[in-house]
Amino acid sequence: MVVIDAILVKGNGPLRGEVAISGSKNAALPILTAAILFRDPVSIDNVPELRDITTLLNLLSLLGVRSVRRGKRIVLDASGPLSHEAPYDLVRKMRASIYVLGPLLARVGEARVSLPGGCAWGPRPVDLHIMAMEKLGAEVSVDHGYVVAKSPPGGLRGATISFGTSSVGATCNALLACVTAKGETTLENAAIEPEVDSLAEFLAACGAPIDGIGTRTLHVRGVDRLRPVPFPVIPDRIEAGTFLAAAAITGGDLNVTGCRPDHLDAVLQTLRDAGCEIETGKNSIRCRGSLPPKSFDITTAPYPGFPTDMQAQMMALASIGDGVSRLTDTIYTDRFTHVAELVRLGADVRLEGNTAVVRPVGGLSGARVMASDLRASAALIVAGLVAKGQTHVSRVYHIDRGYERIEEKLRNVGASIERVREEGP
Ligand code: EPU
Repeated sequence: MVVIDAILVKGNGPLRGEVAISGSKNAALPILTAAILFRDPVSIDNVPELRDITTLLNLLSLLGVRSVRRGKRIVLDASGPLSHEAPYDLVRKMRASIYVLGPLLARVGEARVSLPGGCAWGPRPVDLHIMAMEKLGAEVSVDHGYVVAKSPPGGLRGATISFGTSSVGATCNALLACVTAKGETTLENAAIEPEVDSLAEFLAACGAPIDGIGTRTLHVRGVDRLRPVPFPVIPDRIEAGTFLAAAAITGGDLNVTGCRPDHLDAVLQTLRDAGCEIETGKNSIRCRGSLPPKSFDITTAPYPGFPTDMQAQMMALASIGDGVSRLTDTIYTDRFTHVAELVRLGADVRLEGNTAVVRPVGGLSGARVMASDLRASAALIVAGLVAKGQTHVSRVYHIDRGYERIEEKLRNVGASIERVREEGP
């Protein structure tokens, strides 16, 4: 018998008050992985306490990278000998484990990294990561479920790498691999998500000349050695967006602090479309919701487009809207595992290909629901904030991968939410 956590949430009226945003999971993961490249200890600040971060630190520890956490700061030390194998047991818990591929090739000259496999909403390939390593001169094969890669004699060599599809992960991996390669690398059609820019800024601050940060073409001049500088992780734009959705769906008034409004333009526009009043400060966003929300349409797209990681939470909002909303996911065309669960709460959502058509209903009613991925869990909690009666969200370990103390943060602004232990399958 396994004991796992569930979250119980009850519709409890408007949320009011202030919520402080934690460091970004998706920015922290590649930056922490970069520690493999350093021969001196690296200190990273504002690292959120999340299950995915622990998974990565466990993987890094297995590779020989020691880490110590002091509050929000993690100091990593990769000065000792490193191993080059990332086993299935750890990689299967988190796809971002593939980030070790580039730095291991750069530092150790070889890597054996389990293929991450699929996830709840589709195959999620890593072909672009492999292509990038091959362009830098590595020999790569897939053997018994592992990506097996070897750098050429003398180490990775700078190259031009052109991504057909904009990929956050492949751009980060390529950056991590090429920053200590011989010569210059050009990344074409690089992803420009804030998390990618932040990794590039970190590497640049540590002495790697990188031109074009924030644009789709990055020029990187490889250096022999990186010199660590303490670096803070940027605020989590998806956590901020999730709390804004929670303010909107409850007709509440939340001030989301310690965030970067400029990273959330597309989400803020959609919230305005939904009838919310949005005020931005330098590092804060105030959202006042009005009920019922107006219907709205979104189509996910690479940054600065609407983020796929906010699609599920906005579907929860649309489900109590005053008209028909359409939510299309072009990044992950199958990322709709939350649809059936929102329907259990009374939503009227029908899928037409990769578009969810959401029609108005009188309101949501609490039920037992099951989360099958991180953002789906967040959407179910957001929906539970307005559902009549109790919503019981099981498999909460998904939410712990990416939201720091979510129930405490929500409780502090008036939500009726608690975590309970229950017997798992
Ligand atoms: N793709 C390929 N081949 C590859 C890599 C990606 O075809 O080798 C495709 C994907 O299938 C997808 C598109 O490219 O259609 C974009 O995927 P991307 O590589 O950008 O996604 P990722 O790096 O695997 C990161 C985030 C995800 C987020 C996506 C999109 C991390 C650790 N993960 O994933 O975050 O949804 O970018 O923005 O940064 C989450 O936090 O809940 C989450 C899933």
